[in-house]
Amino acid sequence: MLQAMNEALARGKKVLHLGQVATYIPELGKADPNTLAIATCTLDGKISQVGDVDKKATIQSISKIASLGLAISELGEEKVFSKVGVDPTADPFNSIMRLEMRKPHRPQNPLINAGAIVVLSILPYHDSNSRFLAVLNLVRKLCGNEKIEANEQVYLSEKATSDRNRSLAYFLRSVGAMEGDIEDILDSYFHQCGIECSVKDLAVMGATLANDGINPITNEKVLSPRVCVLIRALMATCGLYDGSGEFAVRVGIPAKSGVGGGIVGAVPGKMGVATLGPALDDKGNSVGGIEAMEYLSEKLKLRVL
Ligand code: DON
Repeated sequence: MLQAMNEALARGKKVLHLGQVATYIPELGKADPNTLAIATCTLDGKISQVGDVDKKATIQSISKIASLGLAISELGEEKVFSKVGVDPTADPFNSIMRLEMRKPHRPQNPLINAGAIVVLSILPYHDSNSRFLAVLNLVRKLCGNEKIEANEQVYLSEKATSDRNRSLAYFLRSVGAMEGDIEDILDSYFHQCGIECSVKDLAVMGATLANDGINPITNEKVLSPRVCVLIRALMATCGLYDGSGEFAVRVGIPAKSGVGGGIVGAVPGKMGVATLGPALDDKGNSVGGIEAMEYLSEKLKLRVL
């Protein structure tokens, strides 16, 4: 295992120069583009990790898995998927275009920004902080790490600059696709995007999803098997946005990326696999992470798609 992971790391490092760290959230621009780490967690709880394993990054869009899992668990799939669709888009993660063009004006899936914001708006919590704490609690359980916290600088940096997400949310409310206090809902969205994890945390999260909701480290039942089936299906089709098809072809594992540089993969019945590398391609996905996962998937025969 470690040999394959070190080879994958070397492959990933070779392409880091092709990517750039996200700068549209100013605080993310401080990340080191040369960082790359890989971790795996098997379903019997064995963790392996290589590279810059002490680095942490904000999980950004990976948090959408937790808010979706929470929403389906608390409200049921019928309610959630009456508000957001389950189809992939060929558009960027923060695109506004199809929200106006398609009727009903419903976000196409819960993993694009518009869909994730709508999902947060229906969660049965009264204010931003309780909504955020519920998502944080689920992230901690998925990762088996009670010490996970948000990086307050990154959260506030996004909150101060996110005109695009504000536009999406106000547009959605204007067409009746969501209700509520927009600034309060967005505040919990920015806060959950700022949750900070190590590559090991992300591998355990992937393993919990691969293990039908039972965390292989803590043995806690975190999500139901049905919720994990839905999340894995959406990861496989929409997890890397307009890069999801290419990722399915190259890697073949249900996965979710974030602009902090993380990728979480869930290989059902086998393991969680994660990478952390903040140099991103033009779709907001980690260049080194994709390259390393492609190698590892081939070498360890992880492909399920
Ligand atoms: O809303 C945003 O733009 C960020 N907080 C999250 C976007 C993201 O991670 C897209 N993933 N690749």
